Amino acid sequence: MVYQIRKYGDPVLETPADAITEFGGEELQAMVDSMFETMYEARGVGLAAPQVGVSQRLTVIDITCGEDPAQKHVLINPEIVRVEGLQTGEEGCLSIPGFREQVTRARLAVVRARNVRGETVEVTGEDLLARAIQHEVDHLNGVLFLSRLSPLKRDLIKRKIRKLAKAGEW
Ligand code: NI
Repeated sequence: MVYQIRKYGDPVLETPADAITEFGGEELQAMVDSMFETMYEARGVGLAAPQVGVSQRLTVIDITCGEDPAQKHVLINPEIVRVEGLQTGEEGCLSIPGFREQVTRARLAVVRARNVRGETVEVTGEDLLARAIQHEVDHLNGVLFLSRLSPLKRDLIKRKIRKLAKAGEW
């Protein structure tokens, strides 16, 4: 099943998500499958549950866009436990289509999370994977990449989105 992706302005995107407490169920696995399907269809490299209207701490990431099944990451209740260095690069978000900006983030990020069975997993991401991990964990805290921009750039984008919304194009 492909979910509808919520866009900027939907309050669920700016609400901190709740921890998942039950693992191993069919429902959770089905949701993960649908999130990958939704992300691939939208050609994204990461998707967080709040983006599909579910305020729970679950995110899927695949920086290969489905090319390499070994690079599919399911992170439930993720915590970034270590970061190193800095990188600046272009970033976008499926919930803020049409806008891409330079964002500075850690160059390396180690994240500890649970998988669908509730087992602890640890992923070390560098470069794009590190960026995706940080972007998705932000989503679970109700934080969008707009918050990582200068106030000037952020306000400019928000104004453009308001215009689009008024015109019924958002
Ligand atoms: Ni995003």
